Amino acid sequence: MKVVHTIEELRDQLRGQLRVAFVPTMGNLHQAHLSLMKLARQHGDPVVASIFVNRLQFGPNEDFDRYPRTLADDIEKLERERDVYVLFAPNEREMYPEPQNFQIQPPPDLGGILEGEFRPGFFGGVSTVVMKLFSCVQPSVAVFGKKDYQQLMVVRNMCRQFQLPVNILAHETVRDADGLALSSRNMYLQPAERAEAPRLFATLKKVQAAIEAGDADAQALESQAAEDLSAHGWQVDYVSLRRQRDLLRPQAGEIQAGEPLVVLAAAKLGATRLIDNLEICKK
Ligand code: PAF
Repeated sequence: MKVVHTIEELRDQLRGQLRVAFVPTMGNLHQAHLSLMKLARQHGDPVVASIFVNRLQFGPNEDFDRYPRTLADDIEKLERERDVYVLFAPNEREMYPEPQNFQIQPPPDLGGILEGEFRPGFFGGVSTVVMKLFSCVQPSVAVFGKKDYQQLMVVRNMCRQFQLPVNILAHETVRDADGLALSSRNMYLQPAERAEAPRLFATLKKVQAAIEAGDADAQALESQAAEDLSAHGWQVDYVSLRRQRDLLRPQAGEIQAGEPLVVLAAAKLGATRLIDNLEICKK
């Protein structure tokens, strides 16, 4: 694997390559990232990964400074798996040599809801860096995890609206055996919090089961789920049932008619904020 830190080196490595498959990350790689690389490998050649902790997508009170930076370990993991041909690991000056005055603004009805409501500016920061990374890597395929469901939708919409020739592939959420979605932020959890953390997914599964059993009262299901979590010490930002296609709230009739849905949640355990989601396709 070649590790490059500048855009010029990256372009040298990729000259003439037309089937690049790309996996953007912020590093601190775990099994879920490695699975994204495997999927990338099935859909393109060469596979390029990036590691860049993007300041633009962090709010002033978020964990940008303490976000784990583990480049040496990450390189070792990628070397072991042998899926990635080039790792692009730029520093901040390389990516933002001057203030990033041109930025991508996702529409408020997609980027301002759910995560966007609780993390203002987040999807603008994500879209801007993804656009920039796409411009550096020029992939034909890029892989994103479904754990960041709204991010996946924002990126897909951005590609469609700007006619970017990048096919966005979604990878299923990778979970620990107890259901907790893998995330770099899980490492912040204290042991008791780690034991409690699977309740987030278990709660989403209860919503899924209720809908599959014919319940169509989204508001009641959301409130019940949020109350269950709060009763176990979670600080809930949202539990929200949405349509898969546009993340808008479904009508009861749509739920009954089997509209593909997704239930999304974000909640804090102690100081750690976790997100998760579950797709619901009623037969
Ligand atoms: O999902 C992430 O790790 C980040 O949001 C991404 C897509 C690498 C952009 O910084």
